[in-house]
Amino acid sequence: MKAKIVLLPGDGIGPEVVYATVSILEALAKAGNHTFEFDEQLIGGCSIDRYGTALTQEALAACQAADAVLLGAVGGPKWDDPSARVRPEQGLLGLRKGLGVFANLRPVKVYPRLVDASPLRPEKLAGVDLVVVRELTGGLYFGQPKGREQRPEGERAVDTLEYYDYEIRRIVEMAFTLARGRRKKVTSVDKANVLESSRLWRQVANEVHAGYPDVALEHVLVDTAAMRLVSNPAGFDVMVTENMFGDILTDEAAVLAGSMGLLPSASLGSQGPGLYEPIHGSAPDIAGKGIANPMGTALSAALLLRYSLKLEKEAAALERAVERSIEAGQLTGDVGGRLDTRQVTQAIIDHLSL
Ligand code: IPM
Ligand code: MG
Repeated sequence: MKAKIVLLPGDGIGPEVVYATVSILEALAKAGNHTFEFDEQLIGGCSIDRYGTALTQEALAACQAADAVLLGAVGGPKWDDPSARVRPEQGLLGLRKGLGVFANLRPVKVYPRLVDASPLRPEKLAGVDLVVVRELTGGLYFGQPKGREQRPEGERAVDTLEYYDYEIRRIVEMAFTLARGRRKKVTSVDKANVLESSRLWRQVANEVHAGYPDVALEHVLVDTAAMRLVSNPAGFDVMVTENMFGDILTDEAAVLAGSMGLLPSASLGSQGPGLYEPIHGSAPDIAGKGIANPMGTALSAALLLRYSLKLEKEAAALERAVERSIEAGQLTGDVGGRLDTRQVTQAIIDHLSL
């Protein structure tokens, strides 16, 4: 097959992990007789430096015209001033909205070899295999009104948590569909004891559930969900939730795996290219040192192969190769290893077998 993939390396360690992953994809393309065409664009701080905006119209258009988009990370201390008018994160939010990728899938798996890298006791981690389906283009991140104003009483800031029923329905449907291919359990996370938007969320989740009688549905309040993620994480299969709740819970869930450096994500819409990125940030403290963990991005590329290119065999081969590297202790420092990015990348390539 022939596929066009836009690369958005971004800032910090972003370029290191994206280029590492490109070499893995090239090895896979060769083995599977595919042609992947890569087009590189700027996003985040590097785009601000060059163009004064975190994502240009041209870069977004290139992404929209691609089969899939692979992103590294955005942001860093250089662009961190909270009062700045242009911020790297605007690029990411603009990209998600511009691609219409309303569903952010963040799978969390615990690899037996790495249980010691997690702060949780090993017995808590046995059997952890969950995926958070985070709503990505609505909710508190995008609701209107949003902004600041001077009033007689003082300066006022407002963000709005807003959802239409159709936005909830499509993300909850995605969660149920995913659960069908897994352990058939959906946990819908909300704050229905306080928020009106959560009461609508719960109502729509129940309506959608009627079409999936073979899948179990439970409703859990977000504070309880945060607690259960560390007290009984193996009890979750598919969690589905609002944008901001999902942002917070997925960082918490990442701790289960031992390192943020391991976790991939896929952002999907109902059509058009998917967006794939590791869930870690730009890690400015280690940027440029060549020691970043490429596995989160490599596993994101596996999701890209699976969901956007429908290359299941290649996706599974890549996941297997990462797993073999982990089992063989071919690891970067964040997960207790001694190898650098290049060596781990080579190890993954060596373990590839279609
Ligand atoms: C994430 C990140 C982003 C978010 C930031 C960088 C805007 O934390 O992808 O989880 O909040 O969505
Ligand atoms: Mg986050």
